[in-house]
Amino acid sequence: MAPSTLTQNIKIQNTQNNGEPLRREVSRSLSMSTSPHETFHQRKMSIGMEGTSPGLIRTKTTGAAPKQLKPFREQDIKILLLENVNQTGRDILHGQGYQVEFMKSSLPEDQLIEKIKDVHVIGIRSKTKLTSRVLAAARNLIVIGCFCIGTNQVDLKYAAEHGICVFNSPFSNSRSVAELVIGEIIVLARQVGDRSNEMHQGVWKKVSNKCWEIRGKTLGIIGYGHIGSQLSVLAESMGMDVIYYDVVNLMAMGTARQVPSLDHLLANADFVTCHVPELPETMNMIGKHQFDTMKSGSYLINASRGSVVDIPALVAAMRSGKVAGAALDVYPAEPAGNGDYFTNDLNSWAEDLRSLQNLILTPHIGGSTEEAQSAIGVEVAEALVRYVNEGVTVGAVNMPEVALRSLTMDEPNHARVIFIHQNVPGVLRRVNEILGDHNVDKQMSDSRGDVAYLMADISSVKEEQVAALYRELEGLKERVITRILY
Ligand SMILES: NC(=O)c1ccc[n+]([C@@H]2O[C@H](COP(=O)([O-])OP(=O)(O)OC[C@H]3O[C@@H](n4cnc5c(N)ncnc54)[C@H](O)[C@@H]3O)[C@@H](O)[C@H]2O)c1
Repeated sequence: MAPSTLTQNIKIQNTQNNGEPLRREVSRSLSMSTSPHETFHQRKMSIGMEGTSPGLIRTKTTGAAPKQLKPFREQDIKILLLENVNQTGRDILHGQGYQVEFMKSSLPEDQLIEKIKDVHVIGIRSKTKLTSRVLAAARNLIVIGCFCIGTNQVDLKYAAEHGICVFNSPFSNSRSVAELVIGEIIVLARQVGDRSNEMHQGVWKKVSNKCWEIRGKTLGIIGYGHIGSQLSVLAESMGMDVIYYDVVNLMAMGTARQVPSLDHLLANADFVTCHVPELPETMNMIGKHQFDTMKSGSYLINASRGSVVDIPALVAAMRSGKVAGAALDVYPAEPAGNGDYFTNDLNSWAEDLRSLQNLILTPHIGGSTEEAQSAIGVEVAEALVRYVNEGVTVGAVNMPEVALRSLTMDEPNHARVIFIHQNVPGVLRRVNEILGDHNVDKQMSDSRGDVAYLMADISSVKEEQVAALYRELEGLKERVITRILY
């Protein structure tokens, strides 16, 4: 085995310095809704922050309290929450006065089809499959909340084409991942996993050979996004030098330094950790060449996506001693549920991995903490409330992102018109002809693929005019969904 070349005092040059028709009905009832009944908008915000976060949008000129809007067409908002959505999210939705039905598990497709018929909002996690067949039954559905990171379980295109907005929570668990990686760096450097396994077998093996402090060692972070930058701060506070490689030129945290190439990072880091998204360019981004380029006796951590590391190349690099240890949290193929699935049937090299020393294997738990679940509950529930109460789509995964500042209490005769429509020429002109009898105070429109989203705040609207406005907009052939909040 080649001698370890762990960093003593390396200085790295910082060269960068730094087929079905689209029509559907939201509701068949014309009754006025009684929910929401709580004001959602009263969150603290510093001066000058207007418009930076959708939940915090307030009027700059008057400073008046935001007006609580009610949907015109939907009756009391009905929400179905499946898969044990976190209490934080449930509390927010209950607090709005919505009718919330909560279930701990997901539902088989036929039961789901039955249940989804009447609800305006559904909240799920990763097990509930919202296929086009299920969504076709959801005649009142306006929004889906995925209380998780991924949205593969939802037919996003079908949902968008039918005016159903989808939200998720991609970054609520960044800190949890960063903390796990910090733990793994120490556990690898001290071979704690092996010592613990030995003790579980009744073996006492006290060694210090090739066990290291992490202070003064160099951490190389590939992908300096939400997780990578959190990790950077934590690692520095533990005395590590931090370098990072990213395709984007990014401001460093603390004294971390961006390096110009992946090879540069690999050649200089004692610990290499991957935090890039799954993209064609990141597929097997760490393979034989990269392991050859890494320092002898260095360590690799992957808690990003399983496709990023070429596992057979890692096995070879660990067997040769080039890589002194590794931690994997993600795998190209992962089982859908818990059980004894980590075998060659799942991934052809699983048993090779299981035979290696100083290799931490975890079942995709990087983001799995109580805090992350709680943060996901808040983030997704708030996005759902903003969408239901204000029509704001910022953060949606399948719709254009549209927001207007909130209507205020001193704008009593205003209404907000939301018109989701097919993205074809001439629609805006026809919509504006309909709205033209009123004063359009502000308006925003954007498109994403075949679907466009228009939001307009109009003034001097009498309550009895709302129904007529609604009917006229519904009459446009390009309409997908019309909503009026007043
Ligand atoms: N293990 C877990 O439980 C867990 C939990 C959350 C996220 N993740 C995964 O972690 C990864 C990072 O998440 P994030 O929230 O920090 O993402 P992010 O989007 O905030 O950051 C990703 C960074 O990678 C950079 N990048 C993209 N392509 C690159 C390339 N080819 N080379 C170098 N840099 C590149 C981007 O510019 C960005 O700065 C994702 O793959 C995500 O799926 C895993």
